[in-house]
Parts: sequence; C-alpha cells; structure tokens
Amino acid sequence: MTVLPIVTVGDPVLRERAREVTPEELRSPRTQQLIGDMIDTMRAAGGAGIAANQVGELLRIFVVEVRDNPRYPYKPNVPLTVAVNPRIEPLDPETAAINEGCLSVPDLRGEVDRRIRIRVTRLDRDGAEHVEERHGLTAGTFQHELDHLDGVLFLDRVRDPRTFTTWEQFERHHRDAFVARITEFVERVGS
Ligand code: NI
Repeated sequence: MTVLPIVTVGDPVLRERAREVTPEELRSPRTQQLIGDMIDTMRAAGGAGIAANQVGELLRIFVVEVRDNPRYPYKPNVPLTVAVNPRIEPLDPETAAINEGCLSVPDLRGEVDRRIRIRVTRLDRDGAEHVEERHGLTAGTFQHELDHLDGVLFLDRVRDPRTFTTWEQFERHHRDAFVARITEFVERVGS
C-alpha cells in the first residue's frame, strides 16, 4: 500500500468527469491496488473521504471513513466505505448549510448547502451492490465526494463567498458557533 500525492485545485483532473468502472476493471489488481492506496492516502492526510480524481485517476471511485477525526471532530463516525460507480438520490428537499473543507483545496473552508437525507447506491470493492440511506453530515460527505467524480469542487457550491475562511480563522472565529449549530443538527437528523 502506498500513500499517493493529492492533486490540488488548478489541476485539470479535478475538473473532469470520471468514468464508470467496468466489472473486469474492478477485479483487476491495478484497480484493487488503487482502492487500497486511496484508503491509505485518505487516512494519512486525515481526510473524511477521497475521490479518485484527487489522486489523478478518472475512475468513479471514492472512499469515506470517519473515525474520531481531529480535522472534523463534530462529524459522526462512518465505517470505511468504498463506493464504485455511486449514485445519490435526495429523499426530500431539506438542505443544511455545512462548513466544508477539501484535501485538494489547502487551507480553505466555506459553507455549502447539502441535502440531508439521501439514498446512496454503490458497488463495494468486490462488486457487490449496496443501497443505503445517509443523513446529516454523513450525507454531506457523500455528496462532496460524488461531486469530485463529476469535476465539481465545494468552492463551486459556496453561495456566499464571505463564508470562506482559512482553517486557522475558522478555529478562531467561527468554530464554536458552527459546532453548536451542527451538534444540534446531528442529534436531530443522525447519520
Ligand atoms: Ni474534497
């Protein structure tokens, strides 16, 4: 397993649509190695998720995992999830403003509206299909990763550019209010 370099905003690979993975491709040692490397890279960088575009591969694969993440201490834990050819359907129109960051956008956070109840359909790394509901911040994480596969960054979805902050200024000026609001929200909608 290998920790891969993460590409940053400005690299055209982050703006391209990743393509579907075929069953043969998913079984191949190369793709299985890529998935393992993406897991290692996400963990080494302390991210909540990473998409294939972020390591320079245009395949529809992302991984998500939250285990008491110090980068996002308010996020509920999410078991390691590998999503191949994922689809997301919103279950209702309700959205919430969520403060997001991204491993490909160093030192910037901003507020994005995300659906808070979604159905995720995905293949796992063995090609088995799973259909799951995800709620709240976890739903937001899945939408953020799926966006990557469509060449979309959270930057594109920030409605009010005045919500952009560095991580340091977020900690200093915005964290307490956000965490108070989001803690109540996580208790209400779950994950
Ligand atoms: Ni990201």
